[in-house]
Amino acid sequence: MIKLAQRVQAVKPSPTLSLNAKAKALAAKGVDVVSFAAGEPDFDTPAFVKESAKRALDAGFTKYTASAGIPELRAAICDKLQKDNALGYTPEQVLVSCGAKHSLYNIFQALLSPGDEVVIFAPYWVSYPDMVRLADGVPVIVETRPEEGYVPDPTRLKNALTSRTRAVVLNSPSNPTGASLDKKALQSIAEAVAGHDCLLITDDIYEKLLYTAAPFCNIANAQPSLFARTVVVNGLSKAYAMTGWRVGYAAGPKELIAAMQLIQDQSTSNVTSFVQKAAVTALQGPTDELQTMVKAFKERRALLVNGLNKLPGVTCPMPDGAFYVFPDVRGLLGKRHQGIEVSGSLKLSEILLDDYQLAAVPGLPFGAEGFLRLSFAASRETIEKGLQRLQAFVSALT
Ligand SMILES: Cc1ncc(COP(=O)(O)O)c(C=O)c1O
Repeated sequence: MIKLAQRVQAVKPSPTLSLNAKAKALAAKGVDVVSFAAGEPDFDTPAFVKESAKRALDAGFTKYTASAGIPELRAAICDKLQKDNALGYTPEQVLVSCGAKHSLYNIFQALLSPGDEVVIFAPYWVSYPDMVRLADGVPVIVETRPEEGYVPDPTRLKNALTSRTRAVVLNSPSNPTGASLDKKALQSIAEAVAGHDCLLITDDIYEKLLYTAAPFCNIANAQPSLFARTVVVNGLSKAYAMTGWRVGYAAGPKELIAAMQLIQDQSTSNVTSFVQKAAVTALQGPTDELQTMVKAFKERRALLVNGLNKLPGVTCPMPDGAFYVFPDVRGLLGKRHQGIEVSGSLKLSEILLDDYQLAAVPGLPFGAEGFLRLSFAASRETIEKGLQRLQAFVSALT
């Protein structure tokens, strides 16, 4: 028997990836699966981005590059952060990695010593706590509540901060709730962390998928004095429908970025060379396809939320951004389906997939039992069909 490292035993497999895999395997067998499990846009990567990658390939741009990213991409990211976010960075403050996920992984690896703590707000993206554990850190979970719009309560946050707190993770708009934090909410977080020497990690991956009138704002915008201890994480996956290309980045304090680069130098090295060229083109290119996608998501969001709120036992707030809704299904738990108790969100998700061919991610792994995460990165027809299946399930409960 192979004796695996202890840190591996503390880590759970990603439930979203495994549910997606199960739904895809059923679909491959010819089962008519409706999937609300997607964590990626159902739109294709813009053609001008693909063309750019093809040009780079044809020009022979296929060799190793600088590990931190090609200079023109790091410069394009600095331009983007200045133009869109009013944040001034130099290229040495930017590290290009294999997706925002890899950027986050590098941050935790560079930042944490055994026992160091990272504050994560629940409901959270499933990977944060496990990435912290993989770096021998301790995730400290701070609850946020639907009735408070998932805005972190400053007192609860303050109570979670200790001398071991190395970072607080912020994710707005959020996966899984879709909630966004406005300037006021971010300022109250800034006040709560004021006396603590911790890093603020702002995961802005859903920045462009925001349906509110108020513009996007992160912690460094809301409280400029925190800029020096903020690291911005972003990427091209969601805004440019480029999930499979694997390109993301972090921008932050030079010494942190240098330490992250060291880890990357000794592990993955550079992001795929020709993908980096295409990323420059994407960042500098037109945004009409993004706008088309945002318009479609906004319409589908309304369709899904309205449909869900018609189901007895289900309450669903309107998310501000991303492409997820996070309905409260506590009204369905404890009921029976064909004699079997719907004991929790895992059971609910299992019944929906097995008996209704509907893939919906349970809330439990996001730190929110009694909820489901449904993605509206799906066609209107898919959403309507999924709602019918949910209706059939709810009607069958006793
Ligand atoms: C909150 C959040 N952060 C980061 C990521 C990672 O994105 P990528 O690694 O594709 O850039 C995701 C993807 O689902 C996400 O939901």
